[in-house]
Amino acid sequence: MSVRRVIDLLRSGEPKQAATVQGWVRTKRELKNFSFLEINDGSSLQGLQVVLDQKLPDYADLLRSLTTGASVSVSGVLVASQGNKQRIELHAETLQVWGESDSETYPLQKKRHSFEFLRTIAHLRSRTNTLGSVFRVRNTCSQAIHQFFQERDFLWVHTPIITGSDCEGAGEQLAVTHFNPQQIPLTEAGDVDYGQDFFGKPTYLTVSGQLEAEAMALAFSNVYTFGPTFRAENSNTSRHLAEFWMVEPEMAFCDLQGDMDLAEAFLKHIFKTVLDHCAEDMEFFNLRIDQSVLETAEQIVNQEFERISYGDAIATLTKANHPFEYPVEWGLDLQSEHERYLCEELFKKPVIVTDYPKEIKAFYMRLNDDGKTVAAMDVLVPKLGEIIGGAQREERLDVLEQRILAQGLSLEDYWWYLDLRRYGTVPHAGFGLGFERLVQFMTGMANIRDVIPFPRTPLNAEF
Ligand code: 4AD
Ligand code: MG
Repeated sequence: MSVRRVIDLLRSGEPKQAATVQGWVRTKRELKNFSFLEINDGSSLQGLQVVLDQKLPDYADLLRSLTTGASVSVSGVLVASQGNKQRIELHAETLQVWGESDSETYPLQKKRHSFEFLRTIAHLRSRTNTLGSVFRVRNTCSQAIHQFFQERDFLWVHTPIITGSDCEGAGEQLAVTHFNPQQIPLTEAGDVDYGQDFFGKPTYLTVSGQLEAEAMALAFSNVYTFGPTFRAENSNTSRHLAEFWMVEPEMAFCDLQGDMDLAEAFLKHIFKTVLDHCAEDMEFFNLRIDQSVLETAEQIVNQEFERISYGDAIATLTKANHPFEYPVEWGLDLQSEHERYLCEELFKKPVIVTDYPKEIKAFYMRLNDDGKTVAAMDVLVPKLGEIIGGAQREERLDVLEQRILAQGLSLEDYWWYLDLRRYGTVPHAGFGLGFERLVQFMTGMANIRDVIPFPRTPLNAEF
């Protein structure tokens, strides 16, 4: 008998059909002549109700071993459920316990656990309702991302994780070191030179695949990356991770306008796909985590985003009668309180802020004609602030060289990047979406550490 997924049985299982399911016991209720088990295999929020009749062989022993967390295979016959919680249930005929789970020590009890506590058992927390829903939504987001780009003929390119270039020029890179003295090149004096390292030069975990994606876009026109990125910034906040996934489209023959249009269509597509495919999980978030989740998602799909220049945003914020903690002044970066004010109080929807002062943005952003601002764009969303950062890239060799030097960086470090401006340069643009920020925004989860299976933050790489 072939094994069926719980979600499949709940949706399309019919009475009298024989079925086998495999999964983990969530709950057990013992009645006089029979017992109920709820089995969950991760395919849906709701588990499958299994009925065990006391006439089953070794019933008493079996029940003792079927505690929360135990893994089982159950075969039996589907029956229309008497209760109103589910359409169908499985009446067990044979049951195999793969692994028992000691109820004295199993950390997941029936009560509600705090997310802080669940982070200390990241290896088990995916068995809870909330984390289960988060990771199913995360999966659907990934699928929607690939679908969006593949339908538009973007090439998925794989950019390196270990790199010698600092994409953002912000010095937030985590160094790659190699401590095997036999393999590390020695200095002339015969000492181990950790600075030289395995690659013959200092290398780092990438902060962004953008520079390499630009190289690929200048061969394939439209490309995107979807991979892990790393930042050694102070990530002791609810929206920063030291390891996070980024999606970075890059388009040749494209300007800032096209970049913004793509970013908006992209977010709309992902939200629509999740609303269509993860209705049960999204309703759960709306009920248990944040009561604005569904309304926000509908708004993303149906409403046009607001677009405003940095200059106008600063003017508006200066006039706003609001007690900001950080100062608002032309030349200063927007803090998340300012970003949230724009989205939550002023426009009440996502806002794309463009044309930031060149001093507060990366060297690769295209200098505007005013000589003061660059063709940057940040997409800001309610409750979270920045979810996407992007720009039209500086395609003029001389201007790019000046910008690299002005930011205290060296031309030699970016020689190959500059080559792209020497040979067949074109206007091009792209952006980066923080994948965990997206999942966080989508689900309403308060802390970014709860939307990635094994979060990496300062002093925390336990799992
Ligand atoms: O704005 P950022 O730094 O932009 C770049 O890295 C560009 N190279 C992207 C590009 O144009 N191709 O980062 C992009 C996004 C941010 O908007 C944010 O959503 C996310 O990455 N992000 C983080 N997410 C989680 N933890 C962190 N520490 C993050 N830092 C940035
Ligand atoms: Mg940014």
